[in-house]
Amino acid sequence: MKKKLVAALMAGCMAATMFAGCGSSAPKEEAKSEAKSEAAEEEKTEEAAETPAAEGSGKVGIAMPTQSLERWNRDGAYLDEQFKNAGYETILTYSDNKAEQQVNDIQNMIAEGVDVLIVAAIDGEALNTAMNEASEAGIPVISYDRLILNDAVSYYVSFDNYTVGTLQGQFVVDALDLENAGDAVYNIELTTGDPADNNAGYFFNGAYDVIKPYIEKGTLNVVSGQTDFASVATEQWSTDVALERAQNILGSYYADGTQLDVWLCSNDSTALGVAQAIESDYAGKNTVLITGQDGDEANLKNIVDGKQTMTVYKNVSNEAIVTLKLAQALLEGKECDASLIEEFGVECAYDTESYETSAGNKCPSFLLVPSVITKDNLQDLVDTGLYTMGSDGYLSAN
Ligand code: BGC
Repeated sequence: MKKKLVAALMAGCMAATMFAGCGSSAPKEEAKSEAKSEAAEEEKTEEAAETPAAEGSGKVGIAMPTQSLERWNRDGAYLDEQFKNAGYETILTYSDNKAEQQVNDIQNMIAEGVDVLIVAAIDGEALNTAMNEASEAGIPVISYDRLILNDAVSYYVSFDNYTVGTLQGQFVVDALDLENAGDAVYNIELTTGDPADNNAGYFFNGAYDVIKPYIEKGTLNVVSGQTDFASVATEQWSTDVALERAQNILGSYYADGTQLDVWLCSNDSTALGVAQAIESDYAGKNTVLITGQDGDEANLKNIVDGKQTMTVYKNVSNEAIVTLKLAQALLEGKECDASLIEEFGVECAYDTESYETSAGNKCPSFLLVPSVITKDNLQDLVDTGLYTMGSDGYLSAN
């Protein structure tokens, strides 16, 4: 009974979305929804017999990458809480940054009969098995924060990832007043994220596009010469990997007293490693400008202490709200396009051009707006209600 209701609602949304240019995998889902696994079928039938489903209820699978990086703990908690508060049953998994484990976790969710999948991918290219099964079972997939490169994805919810990078690059340009630098030369190094994460290239390119003219002019000098994505990437966004590479660079290029002015880091977990390396291995006495992203607690502490200069903040509670409202609309068969944004109550753009799940296959995306945080506007974070400032001036996530 419940399954039929969900399938019918999905079909309604799919019909609407075909005209609205929404989820490319949508049309085939109605036909394939009958193929949901026996186990799921039985479970749903039993469920429906035991407890009649409340309006808008259903089961939601939330697959997060790892608990070892701070933000995903917050994302998982917000998503889980918000879906539960809205009356949904949830399954929340963390896959220890192991792509194969994430495939298993998603397969289990499909077997459990989830109605929608919310997935933050460990590796955007390694989920095909699970995605194809979701598609065959007629389960819509919302790619959360990181794009999964598979056409089973119905929608993408994230921040404007390229803008995250441009904010970091522009911060460096403004802080050093590079426009008016004359003959001055500033030394800079770069660190970005995991090549398996589709976001990493967007962050890096966004930042690099802003600083590139100054590198070409010679105002910014990458002393190590490492400017290509592969050289500056960090496996799994690991703090330790970023730390080790930074130590190597400091040892090889700065041990002679060469001044380092900027280390452009794509996010906070890598910035943490770079800041540690600077503390332990940098001979200079100047403050090195370090960028980041996320507003992790340790990094906010470093910002207060002057060991990191900025972070690009992304309100992941809002990202969870947008995801919830989109999933609700999808399950209720509503039109899923820009007209939903008003309901979100969150600043966000509907973008049908920027992201593709395969060559030429555009993925409709809801992109939230990132902002810059420095020691001067930490109060903005407190004002979100998501952080508290202690009497020591440090922030902790609520
Ligand atoms: C997220 C960033 C995060 C990074 C590492 C990216 O996909 O967008 O916010 O810093 O993963 O967790």
